[in-house]
Amino acid sequence: MVNSLIMSKILVAITGLMMVGFVLGHTAANILVFLGPDLGRDLINAYAAGLKANPLLIWGARIGLIVALIVHVLFTIKLTMLNKSSKPIGYKVTNTKRANFASKGMALFGMVILFFVIYHLMHYTLGVTNPEFMELLDDKGRHDVYSMVVTGFQNPVVSLFYVLAVVALGFHLKHGIQSMVQTLGFSGNSLMQKTKRLSNLVSIIITLLLAFIPVSILFGLVKLGA
Ligand code: HEM
Repeated sequence: MVNSLIMSKILVAITGLMMVGFVLGHTAANILVFLGPDLGRDLINAYAAGLKANPLLIWGARIGLIVALIVHVLFTIKLTMLNKSSKPIGYKVTNTKRANFASKGMALFGMVILFFVIYHLMHYTLGVTNPEFMELLDDKGRHDVYSMVVTGFQNPVVSLFYVLAVVALGFHLKHGIQSMVQTLGFSGNSLMQKTKRLSNLVSIIITLLLAFIPVSILFGLVKLGA
């Protein structure tokens, strides 16, 4: 039971870390849109074309992420069940209110993120919601990812949904990074304080940068053409 609990926590932490790595890289690539219709378009389209020209890299990363996501979700469910079954019968005292709130929040935000990722893939990767986005080409004949992102976020409902989703991501990251550091064996009061500050900082920066992409497009700060 204890072994299974520890193994599950470690798997959730490692897969979480893999996904944090992806989100950091993905944010760094997407903020290129702030550079505008000339430089921004050229860089983000070159980045996307570069990835597509490396099928081994892109499929390796995709498979790694899908496996990480499945393991993360399944072992989170297992942990929740293990925690429930280890509670004494008649457990009424709620001095764990904060912990309960945090874990319920994590589950809720996690589900919002999962729902968001499914929509996001249909929106920008698979061409399900807007098949016309897949046809956009720039003057060098590359997929015009810049125009796709800008056109996509000119829709206020879509932009609002993205903002809400990245706020959920921020809360999930904030708590997730702290638990991950604890699970991976780092402890001690001063280290926990530092971890808390770092996880707050990382999640706030990621949330603000990602949320500012749809917001700046919606308010015309980032435009389709010069
Ligand atoms: C405003 C925020 C975001 C923007 C502008 C954005 C933009 C994009 C774009 C343009 C693509 C398609 C790339 C291409 O076709 O070359 C993409 C793919 C993807 N995005 Fe995002 N993204 C955002 C947030 C997120 C977040 C928060 C997550 C995860 C929690 C995420 C996960 C993914 C995944 C998994 C893919 C598929 C990658 C692949 O297999 O090709 N994105 N995103």
